[in-house]
Amino acid sequence: MSHTAAGDEQNISSLAFTLDRENALPLFEQICAALRQRIVSGTLPEGGRLPATRNLAIELGVARSTVVCAYEQLVAEGYISGRQGAGYSVCAIGQVEIQKAAPRVFQPVEETSHVPRPFSGGEPDMRLFPYRQWGRCVARICRVSPEKLLEAGSVLGNACLRRSIASYVADWRGLSAGPDQVIITAGAGDALELCLRALTQPGDAVALEDPGYLPLRRIVERQGLLRSSVPVDDLGACVPSDKAGAKAVVLTPSHQFPLGGAMAPGRRLEFLEWAGRSGGWVIEDDYDSEFRYAGRPIPAMAGFDGLNRTLYIGSFSKTFSNRLRVGYLVAPEALVPVLKNSLRRTGARASAMPQQALSEFIDSGEFYRHLRRMRRIYAERRKHLLARLTAEFSAFGHAPDHGAGMQIVFHLKPGIPDTQICTQAEAAGLGLQPLSGFAVEACGLNGLVLGCCHMDEPEIDRGLERLAQILGQATA
Ligand SMILES: Cc1ncc(COP(=O)(O)O)c(C=O)c1O
Repeated sequence: MSHTAAGDEQNISSLAFTLDRENALPLFEQICAALRQRIVSGTLPEGGRLPATRNLAIELGVARSTVVCAYEQLVAEGYISGRQGAGYSVCAIGQVEIQKAAPRVFQPVEETSHVPRPFSGGEPDMRLFPYRQWGRCVARICRVSPEKLLEAGSVLGNACLRRSIASYVADWRGLSAGPDQVIITAGAGDALELCLRALTQPGDAVALEDPGYLPLRRIVERQGLLRSSVPVDDLGACVPSDKAGAKAVVLTPSHQFPLGGAMAPGRRLEFLEWAGRSGGWVIEDDYDSEFRYAGRPIPAMAGFDGLNRTLYIGSFSKTFSNRLRVGYLVAPEALVPVLKNSLRRTGARASAMPQQALSEFIDSGEFYRHLRRMRRIYAERRKHLLARLTAEFSAFGHAPDHGAGMQIVFHLKPGIPDTQICTQAEAAGLGLQPLSGFAVEACGLNGLVLGCCHMDEPEIDRGLERLAQILGQATA
């Protein structure tokens, strides 16, 4: 070793170690490691003055700044004291050895991608997603304006995305709203939660479709609201009685969830009259309306109402990806400050990260191209599933064709309980759901909710083989 004796103010003229330039560890870290080891082992004595940075840099053949960096790091860690220009000396650290953590063996983290089970509901086919085009949008933002990925911005969301959505809902859903009426949320579920939080007080009544979207009930209960159910008939959800005193009603008028029909125009009008009369709000959950396969798209109820007493909710979960977690709310102008206040209190949940790229993806036309392609492919898959159900499963029930959505309801004949079939289907690896599970008070619902858009035709055929066996055994 280079030092000659221990003691205060003793100059250490040389440290006598070499650097390994083949080593992946940066040079400054190699210097730190060598000094730490010598200090801890006592080879460098307490109080000893380290070689001047210039001299050590010459000795090791590195830039002086590399040595300064190493010394400053050791100052920060408490091994040495001093500063550049005044010299550095070894601190007292006693005989304490730094305890090395015992080596731990970690189980490798599973890296499997999420593959939805056959017939799971509401799953887009992510194998057909235009990753390259999306990647180009993301890469451009990273290169040109990376700050957009992390920008705090407005609680209402990225201004460009709000503009893109305003023009999207105008073109596709007949909504005439400015970007200032659009709020970006972390999905439709988050938008539903925001609407209820801003428009109601704990103890208020809220009317929900029965059968309906299950998580919504939990949102209502979590907010201390009183849930009342509105039944669904052939014309769509029924208008709540004035006696129920509902402050808001949540509807899926374009495509009732989970039954699948569209609300009749007359019934829509009745709801708008109810809202005008009672001062209640209609919250329109338009979660998958882009997937209408026959006829013209049904305009949103909020457009019909001129965004007067209707709040409109859309989502990119079905059109883009369930994992993106981006949705939006289009609100009457007068409600925007109320919603904004509510968001300020809780903080916005939508991540800033994908918003600018999503806006560019929409404006570039890629989103519309993707949507048109998916609509064509999903239509063929649904047609295939419906044809096979009609041709081969009529002994067990029937499946009405509503010409829309990402799932089909197969109504079972009495005596074939949907819950039992779904339990067996789950054991066989299928993801279908019992229709009765979506009901609270509604009686007589007995069917299978079959998602089919994420499956190609051979996958649908294989799934149906398993389902046929289960149904055959249940009715044998
Ligand atoms: C009727 C309905 N509303 C809302 C949602 C929630 O959508 P998001 O994934 O955008 O939160 C879903 C999800 O499937 C749904 O089916």
